[in-house]
Amino acid sequence: MSSKRPTSQKKHKPGVGDNFQTPGYAVKPLLDYINPHWNIWEPACGKGNIVKFFEEWGYDCRGTDLIMGVDFLTSDPKDWVDCIVTNPPYSIKNEFIARCFYLAIPFALLLPYTALETAERQAHYKTHDIQLIFMDTRIEFQTPSGQGSGAWFPTMWLTWGFGLPKQLNWAEIDKPGKRKYK
Ligand SMILES: C[S@@+](CC[C@H](N)C(=O)[O-])C[C@H]1O[C@@H](n2cnc3c(N)ncnc32)[C@H](O)[C@@H]1O
Repeated sequence: MSSKRPTSQKKHKPGVGDNFQTPGYAVKPLLDYINPHWNIWEPACGKGNIVKFFEEWGYDCRGTDLIMGVDFLTSDPKDWVDCIVTNPPYSIKNEFIARCFYLAIPFALLLPYTALETAERQAHYKTHDIQLIFMDTRIEFQTPSGQGSGAWFPTMWLTWGFGLPKQLNWAEIDKPGKRKYK
């Protein structure tokens, strides 16, 4: 028998990227695909950047977080949620991905490209029709110190249930001082 614990039973120790906050420009590509009448749940909202972004665009978005006592991995969104949008804590991304598929509510998770790897994650992707949005620049996340930090890894939106036109979609990002990667 393997001595390795399944990911779902791992003790959660927050990782380096677990407290990075997402700037609004990274969320903008989703506006083309989210019904303006939908109620959006940001279940790991941190400082609330994604919630504020949607509110500024006139959407109804509610944020919860573990630091508010709401654990996404066990909480029931009730009837008001039409879709889930978050940049999850990357140290427990497998659990967030599994929970989203379990809830079966349209969702968009901002994840590193490497989230396409591993047999455990691919088991979900094989049975669900995921659609991805790739961006033409890296995201400058807000770090706990309040400084911007150019991510050292590329990120994408992994979505399910939004009815995107293709499986692979490409977005141009309005980022201040944007540097395009060749
Ligand atoms: C990378 S930060 C992202 C914050 C926000 N989503 C954003 O993109 O601006 C991840 C957040 O997940 C929260 N978190 C960690 N584990 C969680 C859990 N099990 N349920 C809900 N939130 C959790 C952390 O407290 C942290 O605020």
